Amino acid sequence: MKLTGRTILITGGSAGIGLAFALKFLELGNEVIVTGRRQAALGQVKSKYPKLHTIQSDVADPAQIAALAARVKSDFPKLDVLMNNAGILLYKNLKSPAADLTGLMAEMNVNVGGVIGTTSALIDVLTGNKGTVINVSSGLAFVPLPAAPIYSATKAAIHSYTQSLRFQLEETGVEVIELMPPAVKTDMTTELAEGGGSVISTDELVKQSFTLLKAGALEIRPGQSKQLAFMRRLAPNFINRQLWKASKKLVPVSV
Ligand SMILES: NC(=O)c1ccc[n+]([C@@H]2O[C@H](COP(=O)([O-])OP(=O)(O)OC[C@H]3O[C@@H](n4cnc5c(N)ncnc54)[C@H](OP(=O)(O)O)[C@@H]3O)[C@@H](O)[C@H]2O)c1
Repeated sequence: MKLTGRTILITGGSAGIGLAFALKFLELGNEVIVTGRRQAALGQVKSKYPKLHTIQSDVADPAQIAALAARVKSDFPKLDVLMNNAGILLYKNLKSPAADLTGLMAEMNVNVGGVIGTTSALIDVLTGNKGTVINVSSGLAFVPLPAAPIYSATKAAIHSYTQSLRFQLEETGVEVIELMPPAVKTDMTTELAEGGGSVISTDELVKQSFTLLKAGALEIRPGQSKQLAFMRRLAPNFINRQLWKASKKLVPVSV
């Protein structure tokens, strides 16, 4: 992937992995726009890093995706990188009925609906500018973490969708990259880290990912994601059970 002179939109770029990538892209001389739901978080990021552009937008809401796309096309017509990064993770107990069936779909709407909707809304400008799509899935696309069953399913879905997208865009000049992070220390993994799970820093993720991006890799599997990909081929039953054992204590008592 060409890493300089690009105009880059990162959904969910006000914190965690999205912000770490935004700052690295900024350092490399790119124009970077980040989104998020919380205006206060975006405001703080903007005051700390004035060169970043911030736009409040929720990827779970199709109307907000459409408004974001319209604004980006008008204010940043050179947009040539979309990083679909916004995501949420919820630990779920599947043993009893959910009190709120709509709430049960929250991760689907953000992690899957958000990626598919945002890509579709911007595909014309991305093809026009021969751009790059970076979808952030997870090492859990290969092997589920059973305590986060819906989250894991969303990441497997994104892995599948990304492969189809890459084929369909093959002759348009748009490159489709999948970033599959291992466990990374962010707000998303507080409970995992507290439970003794191994996590890498966002700096380490950026370091490993940018080396692979620079080398032209299309599937970026830093750290333990590479091992998960290997283990699900070598010993799928073993690795599945290992993740269940490791995550069992994170299953909430009720839904
Ligand atoms: N951390 C990990 O271990 C890990 C591992 C593998 C993959 N990932 C993936 O990496 C991505 C980023 O995760 P992270 O760990 O950096 O999470 P994070 O620290 O919780 O940050 C999430 C970011 O997404 C934004 N966001 C959440 N829901 C949104 C929505 N509906 N619309 C727009 N923005 C939204 C948040 O801002 P607001 O709350 O203000 O909206 C925030 O900026 C996710 O796709 C996640 O699944 C993370």
